[in-house]
Amino acid sequence: MTEMTQTPILEFKNVDTYYGNIQVLYDINFKIYPGELVCLLGGNASGKSTTLKTILGVCKVKKGAVKLRGEHINGLPTKKIIARGVAIVPENRRIFPRMSVLENLEMGAYLRSDTNQVKQDIENIFALFPLLKERINQAGVTLSGGEQQMLAMGRALLSNPDILLMDEPSMGLSPRLVDQQFELIEKVNRQGTTIFMVEQNANMALSIADRGYVLQTGAIVLADSAERLLSNEMMQEAYLGGTEACETGA
Ligand SMILES: Nc1ncnc2c1ncn2[C@@H]1O[C@H](COP(=O)(O)OP(=O)(O)OP(=O)(O)O)[C@@H](O)[C@H]1O
Ligand SMILES: [Mg+2]
Repeated sequence: MTEMTQTPILEFKNVDTYYGNIQVLYDINFKIYPGELVCLLGGNASGKSTTLKTILGVCKVKKGAVKLRGEHINGLPTKKIIARGVAIVPENRRIFPRMSVLENLEMGAYLRSDTNQVKQDIENIFALFPLLKERINQAGVTLSGGEQQMLAMGRALLSNPDILLMDEPSMGLSPRLVDQQFELIEKVNRQGTTIFMVEQNANMALSIADRGYVLQTGAIVLADSAERLLSNEMMQEAYLGGTEACETGA
């Protein structure tokens, strides 16, 4: 899957992140290549959201390098990092509650000046998420959790990102909606968007991802193909709930 000759879209090199004096990320290393769907797995408080906040410059890197398409982005303000092609579907989706579905989507494109292409891209989002089209004038607040997740994803995609970050897309959704959500994430990736997804639901995430990293108390303890992680013993015990999840691949 990984093309070593390509420049990664995103790279962490020996990254340490702190909140004040408290270290939360320890020597994090990973690379994400164009077109990949990579997941970062880990339990509560392992540092998943902090990793995304570090990419976005919300948390400052104390040591190490964060690179976007080979260029250092450490220390850049969040706005500039977003303008360079990073989009996020945050943990709580952050839909603008009083804005309509269409207005929420348009907000995703606020940095773009190619108005006609934006219109076309909004149509493409409606083709991907037909439910959103049916609710085009409905206020964001009235959407169900699953619909809000689609809207947050559509909005993020409208910035035309080089990489889409997703923070626990399965959170708060019923099992049926989780399945649906992951099918959509896979579809968006197959259409060419590079995705870095943070998840506690290791089984679901690995079922669609190319590769995965496992975070434990702020350090990466495993890095492998999704297939091999699914059959990894340590993964089985810690995150995959025993043998029923095991589809022998290695
Ligand atoms: N603003 C903050 N100030 C101080 N400590 C923080 C702050 N935000 C997070 N932390 C701490 O950093 C650690 C990692 O938090 P983080 O939110 O990255 O975990 P997570 O893996 O996303 O967890 P969850 O699955 O619960 O969302 C936790 O111990 C948390 O308490
Ligand atoms: Mg989190």
